[in-house]
Amino acid sequence: MNEFEIGIIGGTGGIGRWFASFFRGEGYPVHVTGRSEGMSLPELTTRCRVVIVSVPIAATPETIRRVGPHMPADSLLMDFTSLKEGPVREMLKATTADVVGCHPLFGPDCLSLAGQNVVLCPARGERWLNRMEGLFTKGGARVTVTTPGVHDQMMAFVQGLTHLDTILMGLTLRDSGMAQSTLDAFSTPVFRTKRTIFEKVFGARPELYAGLLAGNGNMKGILELYEKNLHVLKSLILNGDSSSLAALMKKADSPD
Ligand SMILES: NC(=O)c1ccc[n+]([C@@H]2O[C@H](COP(=O)([O-])OP(=O)(O)OC[C@H]3O[C@@H](n4cnc5c(N)ncnc54)[C@H](OP(=O)(O)O)[C@@H]3O)[C@@H](O)[C@H]2O)c1
Repeated sequence: MNEFEIGIIGGTGGIGRWFASFFRGEGYPVHVTGRSEGMSLPELTTRCRVVIVSVPIAATPETIRRVGPHMPADSLLMDFTSLKEGPVREMLKATTADVVGCHPLFGPDCLSLAGQNVVLCPARGERWLNRMEGLFTKGGARVTVTTPGVHDQMMAFVQGLTHLDTILMGLTLRDSGMAQSTLDAFSTPVFRTKRTIFEKVFGARPELYAGLLAGNGNMKGILELYEKNLHVLKSLILNGDSSSLAALMKKADSPD
């Protein structure tokens, strides 16, 4: 039996539930709460020396403000939010406990931690960082320790740019008025793969992806680069200039 219990607020679903199962597999007693299930926050913070906030981005600041004051100073408040600057700032304000921001860079459909990236942003205290890092590393994760600012900058590229592109493809197809059945009949494997991705983004979790884009203060530069490149592509394509387009892509292939 390990020496501390873990509480996951938002552990009844999504990535919180995934980690509840992971921590239990490692021998830790885990208590989960949802909007209408699980113990009260005072009880959770009394039993659990590690409390993790894993609720939708929009509900995260309020949840941190509610749980933070109950945390004893020798405990750890952590979160799984996909953005780190805002939540880490909120956690530092809300509690005197140690604070580590965490972003698992994978979703709940992942089978194991092996080979997955996890980012940790230590913000107060050192006693918990090694424990959490050790736990994730033991599970096979590649852990990167960095600041919330660097994390959010990187997420603007890794998640922001990816989802921006997906959303634009989805909106363009929607605006074209093209019938689904026609698209199906003419689709290629690459198109079907991309369509599966934008159906996931549009259909199941629009709030999650909207929060990642609109909540990241580093998106301005990316949007400006995107617009600039779209403008260049538009001109080359409309001029039928395939050799310049190919040359541009060769350059883009090796940005180093
Ligand atoms: N999903 C991912 O791929 C992924 C990956 C890495 C990080 N994250 C981050 O993890 C956090 C949770 O995302 P998720 O995708 O796991 O969300 P989710 O599947 O919607 O699960 C959210 C959890 O929070 C609870 N919840 C929902 N609305 C709430 C509210 N208004 N107030 C308090 N609790 C609420 C839910 O409990 P009940 O429904 O039982 O009430 C559930 O246990 C987000 O910050 C996200 O950025 C997600």
